[in-house]
Amino acid sequence: MQKKADYVQAIKTKYPEPIVIAVVKDAKGKANPVTIGWSMTASGEPPMMAIALKPERYSTEAIRQIKCFTIAYPNQEMSKEVMFFGTHSGINTDKFAETGTKYSPAEKIDSMIIDDAVANFECTLESEHTAGDHIIFVGRVVACHVNSESKERLYAVGPNRKLGGVRPLSF
Ligand SMILES: Cc1cc2nc3c(=O)[nH]c(=O)nc-3n(C[C@H](O)[C@H](O)[C@H](O)COP(=O)(O)O)c2cc1C
Repeated sequence: MQKKADYVQAIKTKYPEPIVIAVVKDAKGKANPVTIGWSMTASGEPPMMAIALKPERYSTEAIRQIKCFTIAYPNQEMSKEVMFFGTHSGINTDKFAETGTKYSPAEKIDSMIIDDAVANFECTLESEHTAGDHIIFVGRVVACHVNSESKERLYAVGPNRKLGGVRPLSF
């Protein structure tokens, strides 16, 4: 049975939400990581992925200028970095330097990949769409990297940016 609810109440049931980190170089060439909860795989052939960013994020203007970004899947040991990347702005912080996160140059785009991530996807900007209070950037995946070690993905598992892991059901 269903009971009527307002949006704020109903959307709290969405968790777990996979967390991604987008890495975008700014006009000065600094690689800036930003934590994103609102993302999706958008096309299989050709492969495309989408991220939703608020217009006021430093990363938003940077993507528009450089027209490419990396999407990294953080692993479960990266929660401190994820929170730092998601609470500090690249406008006045070198987030990679402050956290000591290891990164390497991307192969096909002018960006960086995160060494310890579960996987990295290099994307060229395909389109942008305004959706209410967020801008959706759709990227075409042009190169992918996966961790040679087995790492588990990080999720938001509840409201207020509660982070954790997800376990499969055992039957
Ligand atoms: C768990 C988590 C999820 C987030 N998800 C989003 C998101 O989907 N879209 C967004 O615009 N900001 C999101 N944020 C906030 C940005 O990461 C944050 O405002 C960041 O400091 C912006 O960095 P920038 O100014 O360097 O671009 C999230 C933050 C956290 C901690």
